[in-house]
Amino acid sequence: MNFDKLKVSVVGLGYIGLPTAAVLANVGHDVVGLDVNPKVVDMINLGEIHIVEKDLDGLVQKAVAAESLRATLRAESADVYIIAVPTPFKDGHEPDLSYIQQAAHSIAGVLGPGALIILESTSPVGATEKLVEWLSSTRPDLTFPTSAESEPDVNIAYCPERVLPGSIIAELVKNDRVIGGVSSICSARAKRFYETFVRGECIVTRLTRRRDDQADRECVQGC
Ligand SMILES: NC(=O)c1ccc[n+]([C@@H]2O[C@H](COP(=O)([O-])OP(=O)(O)OC[C@H]3O[C@@H](n4cnc5c(N)ncnc54)[C@H](O)[C@@H]3O)[C@@H](O)[C@H]2O)c1
Repeated sequence: MNFDKLKVSVVGLGYIGLPTAAVLANVGHDVVGLDVNPKVVDMINLGEIHIVEKDLDGLVQKAVAAESLRATLRAESADVYIIAVPTPFKDGHEPDLSYIQQAAHSIAGVLGPGALIILESTSPVGATEKLVEWLSSTRPDLTFPTSAESEPDVNIAYCPERVLPGSIIAELVKNDRVIGGVSSICSARAKRFYETFVRGECIVTRLTRRRDDQADRECVQGC
């Protein structure tokens, strides 16, 4: 994979996804944003934005004019997929993972060997493993990562976004990242990807499941 110019699919073009897509496009990647809202897709393809965020309008306009950013309602095959869909609470305190599940369903059909998928949505413990389960049940022809150090067809990592609204563009680039791959190979590939546009430190961890934990909690171990 040539990390200098990747095809990146950003799934969910809201406050996180659209600035991320614009920043990626402006460092030279070929970016296609996937959203379920036709109005959002139409506006972005006109070089316009549907949200208020400092410096975003100019960045999107420039990327769309340069044809390095476009939006679509239909999933396309890519080297890297960034999932940035909502994760609201349902009644009470239970997080609603249905948007991530829908995103997984959308991209499953176009996934190919070598793909890297990064979950950026703020997600509860166990969500990344659920993502692996949803994808692997739809695509039994591909191998997906486990905590064992095998080399799967598809690599998956969790990297929660922590930007502050109002300075998202600057923070996307300068903030440190915490990258938890399902395996250390996944972490390393995700780190390599973030290094194409992040100037902060990319801190690599690994997502593993504690076998002995009755509460089925996830832990992050250095690797
Ligand atoms: N907004 C913030 O400041 C902020 C900061 C840190 C983390 N986050 C997290 O980032 C994630 C995204 O938040 P946001 O603020 O960007 O949300 P948002 O509501 O601004 O945007 C989400 C976008 O995803 C689209 N979408 C919904 N389901 C989809 C699907 N199945 N496929 C494709 N597109 C879909 C929506 O149409 C919308 O355009 C959430 O988990 C949130 O908690 C947000």
